Amino acid sequence: MKKSLIFSALNTRATDNEKRTGVNGLEKILYEGKSKTICQGIDEKSLIIHYKDDATAFNGGKKEKLPGKGALNAAISHLIYKYLAENGIKTHLLKVIDDTSALVKKAEIVMIEVIVRNVAAGGFSEKYGVPEGSALKNTVVEFCLKSDKLGDPMINESQITALGLAAEAELSAMVQQSLKINQLLCRLFTQAKIRLIDFKLEFGRCDNQLILCDEISPDSCRLWDADTGKKLDKDRFRRDMDGVLDGYRDVLRRLKNV
Ligand SMILES: Nc1ncnc2c1ncn2[C@@H]1O[C@H](COP(=O)(O)OP(=O)(O)O)[C@@H](O)[C@H]1O
Ligand SMILES: [Mg+2]
Repeated sequence: MKKSLIFSALNTRATDNEKRTGVNGLEKILYEGKSKTICQGIDEKSLIIHYKDDATAFNGGKKEKLPGKGALNAAISHLIYKYLAENGIKTHLLKVIDDTSALVKKAEIVMIEVIVRNVAAGGFSEKYGVPEGSALKNTVVEFCLKSDKLGDPMINESQITALGLAAEAELSAMVQQSLKINQLLCRLFTQAKIRLIDFKLEFGRCDNQLILCDEISPDSCRLWDADTGKKLDKDRFRRDMDGVLDGYRDVLRRLKNV
């Protein structure tokens, strides 16, 4: 894709109404997600992702607008995606457009979320009765079916291949990439004096290869201050704690200083 084409197409931003009607086929809304809006990109092979200020938890059961969250998540995710790309990870990010949006490669999303855990917390602690913060003897990789309707149920490898959601080779490539991403993220967050407890990844198929899609942000990671253990992620929202966005701002500030 020619760079000049991206710039000229993106210089004329659509108004909200134009987005809804899809004037010139640009920025037509294709999917309204819980925290992002997906619009048509500059051609059939791209999409524009807009980060919204909506915070949701418990499969949409808790919902609130947090002004500024979209810009914080976009900035954090774009910084991380650039770092991962510089370190050999193939991602969907083509170009950051503005504070809350980016042009990305359109992919066929694998309908599986990959969860990587370095420390016990959240659903893992509840399900297996281990206190949050417990050390794990090895890195845990789990999968969930991407289905809001079914409540994103946990699914194992033989179930994934049995249902044809991913082939065995594709699944093992996703695991390998997730572990490599974990190593890179642990290195980055350690420098930012943050403990990466766990996180969720999505992958997509594009030009016959797997690419990292969606976002990596305090919405999709558990991030604790390395010294105090203070939560700097969406658990503050889930658990009705104060200063949700202060945590997100802190994460961005520290990552910028690395
Ligand atoms: N590069 C991509 N190509 C196609 N779809 C993508 C890409 N990156 C993310 N997505 C999808 O776009 C949606 C992002 O919006 P989000 O608000 O997170 O939605 P959801 O409510 O489904 O979680 C997700 O469904 C995600 O799987
Ligand atoms: Mg999502």
